[in-house]
Amino acid sequence: MKEIIHEMFSEQEVDARIAQMGAQISKDLNGEPVVLICILKGASFFACELAKRITVPVYMDFMTVSSYGNGTQTTGVVTIKQDISEDIRGRNVLIVEDIIDSGNTLSGLVKLLGERQPKSIRLTTLLDKPSRREVEVAVDYIGYQIPDEFVVGYGLDYAQRYRNLPYIGAIEFA
Ligand code: IMP
Ligand code: MG
Repeated sequence: MKEIIHEMFSEQEVDARIAQMGAQISKDLNGEPVVLICILKGASFFACELAKRITVPVYMDFMTVSSYGNGTQTTGVVTIKQDISEDIRGRNVLIVEDIIDSGNTLSGLVKLLGERQPKSIRLTTLLDKPSRREVEVAVDYIGYQIPDEFVVGYGLDYAQRYRNLPYIGAIEFA
């Protein structure tokens, strides 16, 4: 089977959108520092580009999680495969995800990190597939809402490939 990638958002478009998001996040943080938690691997490109556009002090951290969820569960259960190194108690946190689909990963993460008693938790995702939602999650900053298509590039993968594409595209199996 052949894989064809159809460009959805160009690199220039994505970078410009992330600059807008960074400006809004900086404004909302009002001079206070933030611990930026990048959810590996998919959010890595987004998190780095976003961090460059945030003007308050940023502490970069990284986390690897796996999520299990099905239609009958109301909340996601996420397992930490690699934890952050910062202690987030009493600090502002920004969780950075590549894409929100069912919502299980983000809702589970908010619960898990909330137990560590940060001062605040904000959520951002580069992409959102609202039609796929199973669990309600309040995401503060969304790059783009997209239809139910499988997308790759700018950090997102299909079977670990295509992360390094500089743009975001929908994958077609022809
Ligand atoms: P959720 O827990 O269902 O919201 O899943 C979100 C995770 O599923 C993301 O962090 C991605 O790893 C993966 N995912 C969902 N849709 C896509 C897609 O279109 N392309 C690549 N990965 C996706
Ligand atoms: Mg992911």
